[in-house]
Amino acid sequence: MSKLPDRVDSREVGLVAGLNLFHFFLGTRDLHYGLWGDDLEVRIQNLPEAQKRYSEFLLSHIPDGVERILDVGCGAGGVATELIARGYRVEGVSPSPLLSNAARKQAGEDFVIHEGRFEDVRFADDDRFDLVLFSESFQYIDLDHVLEYARRRLNPGGHVLICDFFKVRAEGRSVIGGGHPIEKFRAALELSGLEVLEDIDITAETAPNLDIVAQMGQELFMPTAELVGYAFDRNHPWLSRLFRWKYQKKLRKIRRKYLSGERNGANFARHKVYRLLLLRQPET
Ligand SMILES: C[S@@+](CC[C@H](N)C(=O)[O-])C[C@H]1O[C@@H](n2cnc3c(N)ncnc32)[C@H](O)[C@@H]1O
Repeated sequence: MSKLPDRVDSREVGLVAGLNLFHFFLGTRDLHYGLWGDDLEVRIQNLPEAQKRYSEFLLSHIPDGVERILDVGCGAGGVATELIARGYRVEGVSPSPLLSNAARKQAGEDFVIHEGRFEDVRFADDDRFDLVLFSESFQYIDLDHVLEYARRRLNPGGHVLICDFFKVRAEGRSVIGGGHPIEKFRAALELSGLEVLEDIDITAETAPNLDIVAQMGQELFMPTAELVGYAFDRNHPWLSRLFRWKYQKKLRKIRRKYLSGERNGANFARHKVYRLLLLRQPET
């Protein structure tokens, strides 16, 4: 059990509540995108299969000879569980106590988790891994330092595996947040001294996840919000007017972000690029 923090981050609570909901209805505990193909219809019921394909794709890029893996940002432990099942020795890094508890539940109580942000966790100098993994966690870590911190954890000849999306320059404002700017990442990579073994673009296969977000907005959240708004207007007209006036800015933002349908696959592919990168630390 993780040490309980003094203050609980409400976004973290939302994430874990969402995870429980998805687990209850769909049977998935993964926090990463799914990998879609022409043979898989883009609908939420197929998300667990798409997420399974993502994990398989990710794991298929682990080089031969790797034994010990550091799973940075291990989330609810879905990928770690799969790695352990395949015989790797895995440790996680997690800044989120609630997710760490979920990860231990899934991967087993023996699953070692270094609690804290990757930037802050103190490892012994000789605590080295064959591979440092960032499965959709790379974007959350300071770009100026993340590759250097990863290098410090590697055995000579060790690997870094990144699967995440990056921001690209595009016309207009994106309603989809996240991702380091790709050109800044390229510059950091150049400086890092890590050798690029693989660099694969999977934007087309991951963009459909945003079509699901758009579907949920239009077909679930929008009608529910309208229904609640209608009941609130009719039953408490004054309170409703006050609420709409007081929170007009927040409501506008929620409408644009979650209900407008703008967070969709086409906009994701316009503003982001999703890549898998396998990097190697030189032997010397
Ligand atoms: C989208 S989830 C991905 C979870 C998991 N790797 C997966 O593939 O399902 C992002 C993860 O990054 C973690 N994270 C965020 N900031 C971090 C940081 N500074 N250091 C380490 N992990 C971080 C979050 O706690 C979360 O577990």
